[in-house]
Amino acid sequence: MAKIIIEAKNLVKTYGEGDYITYALNNVSINVYEHEFLVIVGGSGSGKSTFLNMLGGIDNVKSGEIIVNGEDICKYNDKKLTLYRRDKVGFVYQFFNLINDLTIYQNVILAPGARDKEKAYQLLKRVGLEGKENKFPRQLSGGQQQRVAIARALNKNSDILLCDEPTGALDDASGKEVLKLLEEIHNEGKTIVLVTHTKEIAGMANRVITMKDGCVIKEEINEHVISAKEVEW
Ligand SMILES: Nc1ncnc2c1ncn2[C@@H]1O[C@H](COP(=O)(O)OP(=O)(O)OP(=O)(O)O)[C@@H](O)[C@H]1O
Ligand SMILES: [Mg+2]
Repeated sequence: MAKIIIEAKNLVKTYGEGDYITYALNNVSINVYEHEFLVIVGGSGSGKSTFLNMLGGIDNVKSGEIIVNGEDICKYNDKKLTLYRRDKVGFVYQFFNLINDLTIYQNVILAPGARDKEKAYQLLKRVGLEGKENKFPRQLSGGQQQRVAIARALNKNSDILLCDEPTGALDDASGKEVLKLLEEIHNEGKTIVLVTHTKEIAGMANRVITMKDGCVIKEEINEHVISAKEVEW
């Protein structure tokens, strides 16, 4: 059995109070295994982003534990949490979250936790953007911007990449290119957790978890993993 690298146990997250309470997460327990490609699917409002943000240490829980390397990150103080976010997890967001006033090269070298400044050129080449290093995000297409965001995440050397709807703002062709890149990164050994409401992406996963109304309602091993180029939506 593969090693568990993140063990989320009984996570509860609520918004509001009394009659107006919403359970964004209602007792969610999910393990993340080393080197897996885990896809979490579910409709809008099912709690996917909330869960991913918890794993990334950018949201706090009401109750529950998230064990990473034997420590519960939910108990971390701000300083430890900042280091965790900086060093342990890479993020890819639906709307890229690049800094618009910086060139794409600067976006990659200035990533918090970036260790190897020289690597920025290599990474931009790696994601197919050689020659565009001095362009600004607005001068690139959505798919290209998402590839910059992936290069930025890779510049951290974190073991795990958390992707929130990474193809959600892209046309089909660009979305597929992003999936192909994620597939390659996974094949090189990175653990990927991707949340999406595009069910078809689940075909690429080793394991698929379905969420609804803040709960895990299904968990399956995918016996027939398809390649990114076979994903259709
Ligand atoms: N800041 C907030 N204030 C109040 N309610 C919130 C807040 N953030 C999330 N929620 C609620 O928590 C629930 C889960 O939201 P979440 O963003 O995790 O869903 P999601 O599965 O990522 O949806 P989507 O596919 O639309 O991105 C929803 O009911 C949402 O309305
Ligand atoms: Mg979301």
